[in-house]
Amino acid sequence: MGENLYQQARVTVLHELGGVGLDWRWGNSLRRTHPIRRDFGWQSGRPIDRYYTEERFLPAYQADIRGRVLEIGDDRYTKQFGGERVVRSEILHVSPGLGGNVIQADLTDARQIASDTYDCVILTFTLQFIFDVPAAITTLARIVRPGGVVLAVVPGISQISRYDMDHWGEFWRFTSLSARRLFEGAFRAQDITITTYGNVLSSLASLHGLHSTELTTAELDHHDRDYELVIGIRAVKPLDQRTEA
Ligand SMILES: C[S@@+](CC[C@H](N)C(=O)[O-])C[C@H]1O[C@@H](n2cnc3c(N)ncnc32)[C@H](O)[C@@H]1O
Repeated sequence: MGENLYQQARVTVLHELGGVGLDWRWGNSLRRTHPIRRDFGWQSGRPIDRYYTEERFLPAYQADIRGRVLEIGDDRYTKQFGGERVVRSEILHVSPGLGGNVIQADLTDARQIASDTYDCVILTFTLQFIFDVPAAITTLARIVRPGGVVLAVVPGISQISRYDMDHWGEFWRFTSLSARRLFEGAFRAQDITITTYGNVLSSLASLHGLHSTELTTAELDHHDRDYELVIGIRAVKPLDQRTEA
């Protein structure tokens, strides 16, 4: 493409994105093979996928975070959203030797965790790192109590997380449909609620490692069902469904 045509295309793209002030954020061009930042936006602010997790999905289901709560990797959201409702907080990590309240387990085969144990399991940005997702979801359905809730967030559009890829492997991206079908393998369809977040601008910005304050709230919250940047899943175990140990 000649320079003039390219310039024209760039202006059109920015115009269509409603791009007031976008120029500097994109380093003056979308035509770049390297991301603006490679760290999801962690260093300089909050990653855009975390905005949807922390400002939209988890606040919507805050009341579910109560009683005995298990969270994967750390307890940041148990603390942030559970508050006084949480009576016991535990962490599951796939790596051994972390001690304290950390249970070492692989979710695909976590026999050391008793059935019907948790009122809530918080599983943010984890299922993409587990190859056998159906087995992990079967465990989740087994270890939550009747009436208990699984709150999961999975990526639809994302760069690779190099640290996770190198430690336990990164295998999947999801859609609302694959998330639904996967959870329907262990929960009743009527007990599953799927919510998607994102649009083309927030997806591009997220891929470039921009952080949430570099977009406006209106830009972040515009919902385009064809750009599933983040998928939130709430699955409830029926009150009358006890799992045989
Ligand atoms: C990026 S962290 C996600 C959780 C973290 N709380 C968050 O919101 O970012 C990735 C987590 O995946 C977990 N993980 C990877 N493979 C796993 C497996 N097979 N079973 C259970 N957890 C696994 C690791 O323990 C790690 O804590």
